[in-house]
Amino acid sequence: MTHLFFEHVGSQPVDPVLEIGRMWAKDPNSEKINLGIGIYLDEKGRCPVLKAVKEAEENLIVNEVSKTYLPIEGEPHFLEETKKLLFLENAPLIAAAQTLGGTGALRVIADYLRLEWNHPIYVSDPTWANHHGVFKAAGLEVRTYPYYDRTTHTAKKGEFFDFLQRLEKGSIVLLHGCCHNPTGIDFTHSEWDFILDCCLKKGLLPLFDIAYLGLGDGIDEDRYAVNTFFKSGIEMCVAFSYSKTMDLYRERVGALMIVNHSHTLEAMQSTIRQIIRRNYSNPPAHGALVVQTILTDPKRKKLWLDELEEHRLRSCAMRKLIFAELGGWIQHKKEFQEAKGFFSYLGISKDAVLELRKESIYLLDDSRLNVLGVNSANIGRLKQVFSRLRHG
Ligand code: LMR
Repeated sequence: MTHLFFEHVGSQPVDPVLEIGRMWAKDPNSEKINLGIGIYLDEKGRCPVLKAVKEAEENLIVNEVSKTYLPIEGEPHFLEETKKLLFLENAPLIAAAQTLGGTGALRVIADYLRLEWNHPIYVSDPTWANHHGVFKAAGLEVRTYPYYDRTTHTAKKGEFFDFLQRLEKGSIVLLHGCCHNPTGIDFTHSEWDFILDCCLKKGLLPLFDIAYLGLGDGIDEDRYAVNTFFKSGIEMCVAFSYSKTMDLYRERVGALMIVNHSHTLEAMQSTIRQIIRRNYSNPPAHGALVVQTILTDPKRKKLWLDELEEHRLRSCAMRKLIFAELGGWIQHKKEFQEAKGFFSYLGISKDAVLELRKESIYLLDDSRLNVLGVNSANIGRLKQVFSRLRHG
């Protein structure tokens, strides 16, 4: 007799980002438009492999001599290069590990915090939907801080600053290092300085999520926050991703860093090692070796930085094009134009989003769009469908 052990199981809601990508992929319409998931798309609607990455991979094919395991915390040179990229130095006093993308970094940090600093974590309202899921799954208490008004589509920075000053000591504050997802609204240098000051005075633990380095205002500007915080001597956590910054999405390559100025650095590193070992033992090598091969060779690094800058400029150009063609329908003109990185809300209702989906135009239910889904070939159709739906 077969025992039915799983008769009672229920299902979970679909992922609000990845589900839209799945729907888009399944859609047979040759004129479909993908404004959903945050990936770089070129003028032909493709997510290409960077030349710097191809070169590095060719080099690896010739020179890689073993497929033995990496250490539990990953490839040491990769970690050194990642520290230099973020902090401009191979910073000591940091516990670090190579992770399965930025999400993997967030999860290992969350698991660590749950064990050693189990305080509420505050995320922006709104934030990347998976932040809630990852932190809750690790057992952290997730609360929100005011960030953006979804009715008027304006930032609530003043409210956030007041809120920050009232937070209880020890709270963890999740900050988007650049290119806020989903709003595209970032802080200025002086606002970051103010946030740093609050964190220092109030004893708050910042956790940076940086997934779009170089794609906002350029690499130096985009690392301003994380680098300034680091230089101040504050203890903090960083979850970094190479998915967008090197187009290495499916290679799942990221890193976590925890700055620790006490005598417990080795103990911290040992716990991080244990969390990883018990989850997936040790990370995959390919993506990290690609990154390392690029960052340790000045010519390849320059090629990558040039390609990254091209990506950034294309996202700015597409934002301008969208505004030029659809700006009449966008109420929050200033916020939309000034937003950084891939995302903004379009500011339309869920019903309107669903109407667009019937026309094979895919954005997230909350009207977040990835500006890179637009190109000179599809903007005309987008405008046409928009005006038909608005007037029809
Ligand atoms: C996004 O927000 O679209 C990206 O970060 C992809 C993802 O994993 O959700």
